[in-house]
Amino acid sequence: MSTSSRLPLINRAAGRIAGAGGKRLRPALTLATALALGGSVSSRVVTAAACVELIHAGSLVHDDLMDNAAERRGVRTLNAELGDARALVVGDFMLARAGLVALSSTSKPVAETLAAVVVELAEGQFQEAAELFDPDRTFEDALRSITGKTAALFRASCLVAHPAGRSMAEYGERFGVIFQILDDLLDLASTAERLGKPVGNDLRQGVYTVPLLLALRHDHDDLRSFLGRRLSEDEIASLLARLRRSRMVDDTLEYCRGLASDALASLPVIADPRIARVLYGLPSAYIDRAQALVVA
Ligand code: IPE
Ligand code: IPE
Ligand code: MG
Ligand code: MG
Repeated sequence: MSTSSRLPLINRAAGRIAGAGGKRLRPALTLATALALGGSVSSRVVTAAACVELIHAGSLVHDDLMDNAAERRGVRTLNAELGDARALVVGDFMLARAGLVALSSTSKPVAETLAAVVVELAEGQFQEAAELFDPDRTFEDALRSITGKTAALFRASCLVAHPAGRSMAEYGERFGVIFQILDDLLDLASTAERLGKPVGNDLRQGVYTVPLLLALRHDHDDLRSFLGRRLSEDEIASLLARLRRSRMVDDTLEYCRGLASDALASLPVIADPRIARVLYGLPSAYIDRAQALVVA
């Protein structure tokens, strides 16, 4: 079964975001897991990896709509280009298509895992939306939301790769949590030019993320006055400047390094040394990458 629509305009719209690239990290994790656990990659695994990326891309279309973001992967978002209504249904199309392709061309357990991950993704995104501008949002609230909206798909990327994928699930989930926390950090401490998407958007939208909540632990009163309400662009600039001067970057990177060592401790024995090197190196490579993208 193909991933396309009988409507050329839908194909063009879905192709815009898929064709704009992205790091393709989640499908790479699926392929690496298949090699780590089974030593080879079957065409079913390639299809599962493609479904994972299609779910990710579909979720980004919805996420940009929710965030009212204008740029993604260095190009204009579908909501900016086509309007919210069409972006909404193109996102629906991509998620549903991924499910159908998984059902017809992978296996029942893989299709079930992918259907379940869309549920978790929606729940994580819903939880975040329900906690916008909540000055009492806790660190645990933020962690629960990112486990659903991001880490669940990383976990599933491992699960769908091989019948023994469960042994890599913990690694995938922990790496997913790290990945989202680093993305959240860059939203507060990098630039749009470096990222190919806007910065400060989480503050604009009222998403109080893990790095911000870590900064609040030390700089309570000064930063708290910015919470619980919409901020002007001047206030966002001033808050970003304060956060960049605070311990936020160091504390967040340290927290992620702790999670990375837990992630590595949960890896199974991997026979192929090249694949072992990739999987062992990925979390710290992402932490180093984020560190390099931070602006002083
Ligand atoms: C963006 O994911 C959404 C998050 C979970 C932070 P990526 O940073 O992997 O996006 P692409 O696929 O490379 O564009
Ligand atoms: C990730 O959250 C979105 C999904 C998991 C769908 P973000 O809202 O932080 O992602 P970006 O920053 O827009 O890429
Ligand atoms: Mg977003
Ligand atoms: Mg983000």
